[in-house]
Formats: sequence, structure tokens, C-alpha cells
Amino acid sequence: MELALLGGSLRPGSVSERVLRACADLATARGARCTVLTAAELDLPLYRPGAGHHRGPAADLLAAVRRADGLIVATPTYHGGMSGLLKNALDHLEDLAGDRPAYLDGRVVGSVAVGWSEHGAATAVAALRTTVTSLRGWVTPMAVGVNSIELAALPDVDAAIRADARLMRRLTILVGQVTDFAGRGSAARLVPSV
Ligand SMILES: Cc1cc2nc3c(=O)[nH]c(=O)nc-3n(C[C@H](O)[C@H](O)[C@H](O)COP(=O)(O)O)c2cc1C
Repeated sequence: MELALLGGSLRPGSVSERVLRACADLATARGARCTVLTAAELDLPLYRPGAGHHRGPAADLLAAVRRADGLIVATPTYHGGMSGLLKNALDHLEDLAGDRPAYLDGRVVGSVAVGWSEHGAATAVAALRTTVTSLRGWVTPMAVGVNSIELAALPDVDAAIRADARLMRRLTILVGQVTDFAGRGSAARLVPSV
């Protein structure tokens, strides 16, 4: 089973990137092969319809998503939604329109957002899930909003994430839903698409 994990921010110490990497570790432990693309790889030119981004990081993103049976996407909350960086990366998936199945059809997608409050993160989770469904991705019932206000100030954010039993439990449920669905015979390839 192949997963593509997309997310993080260009901020040094990005909490959303660290949460995404924790998800990758959980998924790997469940037998998934993970391609993790963080902000450095997702810092793409603005999506330009018809431009045909056939080389470079945009092509790498499309290749990772095409290979994937499922995805996990993690965004910072910016002004009540996902970051422009992540939205632009997801806009590049428009180039999967001609695939069969098209876009993310048949691929399970788990959503994570990080913000200065649970409420803030919930707004970004909602925006992320709306975009994923527009791309025909199959959203997991579970989504995770992370409050980074205290986490971000800690000296070892990775250790703090892994020590937070409540957060890890929610991430484990999310990753479990993604890997369980993605592992069911590569659903992405079974779904007829028009
Ligand atoms: C431009 C900008 C806008 C933000 N807007 C919100 C917001 O609307 N709601 C919220 O809860 N947090 C907001 N935040 C806080 C970030 O979501 C928070 O710092 C988060 O940890 C950023 O993710 P990162 O650690 O991966 O960079 C904003 C931060 C920035 C830089």
C-alpha cells in the first residue's frame, strides 16, 4: 500500500510538518510505503491551467499522488483556511483530470490542520475537506485539528507530539482509517470514473 503525505509550512519548526511526519511513522508501522512531501517540495509555481507542469517538483507531486492508494494532508491554519501553499499544491492536482479514475477518485484522504486554537484548526480542516471532496477524494470520517499555541514553543516539538497521548490517539485513528481503506485492494484502481 502506497501513501502520499502532503503538508507543512515554510516556517522553520513547522508543527504541521511534524504532525505529518508522526502520521508517516504511524502509517509505516501499519505497512504503508510513504512518500512525504513537505513545504520545501510543495513550494510550487502558482498553478497555471494548461501550462503542463511536466517536470520538476510539480511533476514529482503528481507522480506521488498517482502512485498512492491514499493520502494524508496537513495544513497550517491561515486566516480561517488552509495555507495558500497547500491550496496551490492541491490546485496542481487539476492535472489529474484526464486520469482514469480522475483526480483523487477512489483514494482515501485524511485531513489534519494546525492552528492557534482548536476552533481555528477546525475551520482549516473544514476547508481542506471541502477541497478534497471537490477533487473527488474520499474523506475519512476522522479528521484532526491540533492546537499549536503551546506545542510550537516547546524545545522538542517532535517529542512533545509523541508524548501527547490524546493527540497520538486521534492521529492513530485517522491513520488507521486511511491505511485500512487504502489497503482494500487499491480502491483507487477499482472505482470506475467518468
Ligand atoms: C498568516 C497566518 C495566519 C494565521 N491564521 C490563523 C487563524 O486564522 N486561525 C488560527 O487558529 N491560527 C492561525 N495562525 C496560526 C498558525 O496556524 C499556527 O502558527 C500554526 O502552528 C502554523 O503552522 P506551522 O507550525 O506548521 O507553521 C496563523 C498564522 C499565520 C502565519
